Amino acid sequence: MVREFVDIRQASIDAVRYIIDTARAAVRDKGYCTIVLAGGSTPQLTYELLAEFANTGKLPVTQCHFFWGDERWVDPSHPDSNLAMAAKAFFSKVQVSPSNIHPIPTAEATPEIAAEAYESHLRDFFASMPPPAQPGFIVNNEDFPAFDLMLLGMGPDGHTVSLFPGSPLLTENKRWAAAVPAGIGSPPVARITLTLPVLNQARNVLFLISGTTKRTILETILSRPKEAEKLYPAALVKPAGNLVWLVADKN
Ligand code: 6PG
Repeated sequence: MVREFVDIRQASIDAVRYIIDTARAAVRDKGYCTIVLAGGSTPQLTYELLAEFANTGKLPVTQCHFFWGDERWVDPSHPDSNLAMAAKAFFSKVQVSPSNIHPIPTAEATPEIAAEAYESHLRDFFASMPPPAQPGFIVNNEDFPAFDLMLLGMGPDGHTVSLFPGSPLLTENKRWAAAVPAGIGSPPVARITLTLPVLNQARNVLFLISGTTKRTILETILSRPKEAEKLYPAALVKPAGNLVWLVADKN
């Protein structure tokens, strides 16, 4: 499904509504919700607005667990950190138990070790939580976790999380998280990213994009999917659950 908006503010308001609806349904179903946050700059307004709604009680924030789809290999206080952006926009304004915030570690010795540590944490988390009362859809692959909501952005090259065009990670089918070497993307730092099987196991995937470059990529994804899959990693996101694109004409 594709929803179009005149600007990022209208799109962000719709994103907040979708997040709240999805979280409440998940909490009704199994008592908790798992939300993967997108990085970059586009979702910042969404997180700021979500903080306002959370503080009115509309988001069951105490039952929500927050994860990241990817992280840059920088200090958590660095302006390029996806955790820093979400902390400033959301976590600094809403009471969330630290045990409900699951950042990708960046203090490990190497990005590879950090990716292994994040995967191990995810495995422990999902093993410790009760399964859904009704899964609601055919689970793609039991070997991977089914997050309730995966928030994703897309770069001007069609990358999503830190899965970039031509990356060998695009065919990864075992690991839940992996390291991405420095020199790719903006900023060109090393990264840790969730892998496609995890993205595609999600019950709900919500892309939030803005601008004509990204809209053109989406049009290719929708009209020429086979061609798009060769060019754009975002075209490979085909979840077992719902896939919604929120497209803002302009920032
Ligand atoms: C990252 C992000 C990345 C982001 C896109 C879009 O760490 O870089 O997770 O996948 O979603 O690059 O970023 P913008 O929203 O800033 O354009």
